Amino acid sequence: RKAVLTRTVEEFEAAFWPDEQPVDNAVVMTMGALHQGHAALVREARRQVGKDGRVAVTVFVNPLQFGAGEDLDRYPRTLDADLALAEEMGADVVFAPTVDEMYPNGEPLVRLSAGPMGEGFEGASRPGHFDGVLTVVAKLLHITDPDFAVFGEKDAQQLAIIRRMVADLDFDVEIVGVPTVREEDGLALSSRNRFLSEDERTRALVLSRALFAGRDAGAQGAKAVREAAAAVLDGADGISLDYLALIDPLSFTEAPDDFRGEAVLALAARVGSTRLIDNVSIIVR
Ligand code: PAJ
Repeated sequence: RKAVLTRTVEEFEAAFWPDEQPVDNAVVMTMGALHQGHAALVREARRQVGKDGRVAVTVFVNPLQFGAGEDLDRYPRTLDADLALAEEMGADVVFAPTVDEMYPNGEPLVRLSAGPMGEGFEGASRPGHFDGVLTVVAKLLHITDPDFAVFGEKDAQQLAIIRRMVADLDFDVEIVGVPTVREEDGLALSSRNRFLSEDERTRALVLSRALFAGRDAGAQGAKAVREAAAAVLDGADGISLDYLALIDPLSFTEAPDDFRGEAVLALAARVGSTRLIDNVSIIVR
């Protein structure tokens, strides 16, 4: 037989796998405790693959991405309700493995590293977190072998690092981002919101208000964006701010004062004992 010379990945794939896959597959990876934010991801997955495509939802609380003293043990586990919601939103299969199923040899000795993109912001207060995320995301991509993998913009740093992993390591999957789903009053949906008391929940609203104020200042430049958001947070009590930053989404580093274009305004804060993160996309001019 004759060997075909190919020079690009696209040429290689067309030559090596000439047949189109009969249906498209999509995966939505979660740690369970599903809410309407996850539901939006499942609906987007269904939209990507069409009615004849296949949608998988994974439910796995990944120990690798939790640090010592983090909430691994108190992370909510609601599998029956998760299954019902996933089905209602159009999933075909839910994959909810045990820790032993995912890590039969114990903790993996070989892991992915998020590199410098994993060191700032969330990575600064959670060392090793994104290495643990990438390791499980890579495993779940290999297991589910999807055409599309859908992630929320709520976890903007996670999404940016996953996109970069796929580009840097040639994963054969299209990463799809979905805008953050919020309560009517602005609070971003999170499985951790259930830990907020009524009073804390009210205090937490200042976080999204600060981000929206920053977004409204986008036309005045990067510095104005930061100042507008910081001004809203300044007066807030009962909130302990971890970081507020205007970020270049490609490198996930702090945007300089003369930055123009699409940026992410992100923050993390502790409200009582619950750590919340949120962000908005901003066009900075
Ligand atoms: P988890 O926190 O369960 O989130 C699963 C997916 O739902 C993530 O892509 C997250 O960004 C998205 N999501 C959460 N809240 C959202 C909201 N309010 N609006 C839109 N999307 C939202 O992120 C993880 O799990 C894990 O790190 C995981 C990727 C599963 C790896 O273990």
